[in-house]
Amino acid sequence: MAGKPIKCRAAVAWEAGKPLSIETIEVAPPKSKEVRVKIEATGVCHTDLHMKNGVDPGVTAAKANFPCILGHEGAGVVESVGNEVTKVKPGDHVIPLWLPECGECPTCRRPDSNICSQLSDSQARGVMPDGTTRFSCKGKQIHHFMGTSTFSEYTVLPDIAVVKVNPKAAMTDICLIGCGFTTGYGAAANSAKVKPGSTTAVWGLGGVGLSAIVGCKDSGASRIIGIDLNPDKFEKAKHFGCTECLNPADFDRPIEEVLHEMTGGGVDFTFECIGNVKTMRSAFEASHPVWGVTMIVGVATADDQLVFPPYKLLLGRTLKGSFFGGYKSNVGIPQLVDSYLEGRLPVAELITHTMAFEEINKAFDLMIEGKSIRSVVKF
Ligand code: APR
Ligand code: ZN
Ligand code: ZN
Repeated sequence: MAGKPIKCRAAVAWEAGKPLSIETIEVAPPKSKEVRVKIEATGVCHTDLHMKNGVDPGVTAAKANFPCILGHEGAGVVESVGNEVTKVKPGDHVIPLWLPECGECPTCRRPDSNICSQLSDSQARGVMPDGTTRFSCKGKQIHHFMGTSTFSEYTVLPDIAVVKVNPKAAMTDICLIGCGFTTGYGAAANSAKVKPGSTTAVWGLGGVGLSAIVGCKDSGASRIIGIDLNPDKFEKAKHFGCTECLNPADFDRPIEEVLHEMTGGGVDFTFECIGNVKTMRSAFEASHPVWGVTMIVGVATADDQLVFPPYKLLLGRTLKGSFFGGYKSNVGIPQLVDSYLEGRLPVAELITHTMAFEEINKAFDLMIEGKSIRSVVKF
């Protein structure tokens, strides 16, 4: 099919707030420096839900331009490549990268940054770098999303937005390395660099928070305190490494006060994995006022404001963010896949539900009901 359009199934988001609609779409062949990938499996991430609902996260990489094909946590096989593609070839197993790595832009060139700005503009507009889309359905152009659109059997990506991984890895597992696992795990193990013996606390025990817990555990944290309003999440959190779990609703005072008392003055490393400014404030307040580090991992909306008195920073505590676990994608993602293959990362254990592509809307329902950690959809 190289060089020709492909007809295939895709879940189209025609407008905000509506269920996804399974359609037969046409996927154009890849142009120069583009790659067409057959997606084998995709996770459904909370960001897909936000975008399906039309929430503006203020993050240019994650803007939905309706109609569009959502999905950004996938794994697949390269079907064909356009001219001038040397990074991958047909048959390679790849993970689509919503955070690409061009290696040339100012932020990519910094050794301490994993941010690539090369596709920011095209991602925000839901198009390929040449300004057009490769998807059409019922005579209409359909937009891309996060430069990945993994809710389609075939998708087209810029070559800088894919990375080759070990073909021995099960795509139904490693798709989660394309977003949720990496985001949480890397926030702790890579961005925060949790020190052995430290106390840690994680807000939100979903896929991202549980992955942060794994990162804390691997880094040798002595205490990992999980915080969630849904106590059904506690058992799994303890399985992943939480030493204690707290439900803020069980206390008649702020959870940060409870944490200061529990840790004798404040938590060494705190992680907000929800995307709520109230819990971000709690995570910040709970950190040790002198050496505490707070990582913002969850994505709030563009209109949200995080407010706190600035003197709370004066003694030296740190408040910062982590994007895609702080990993430069070209090296970091294949390494995580290799660690998974060596049995060192419990990626598969995050998957609570697996379903056929046609049932993708169920994955959203399970997420809204708080019944799933991660649902993986298979084509
Ligand atoms: N206090 C405590 N826990 C809360 C609160 C709150 N106010 N609100 C929600 N939670 C819990 C939920 O009960 C759930 O267990 O946070 C968890 C969030 O988990 P998921 O919905 O599965 O979300 P996840 O996919 O892990 O993503 C979390 O990271 O990448 C971002 O966009 C993503 O902002 C989202 C965040
Ligand atoms: Zn770049
Ligand atoms: Zn995601």
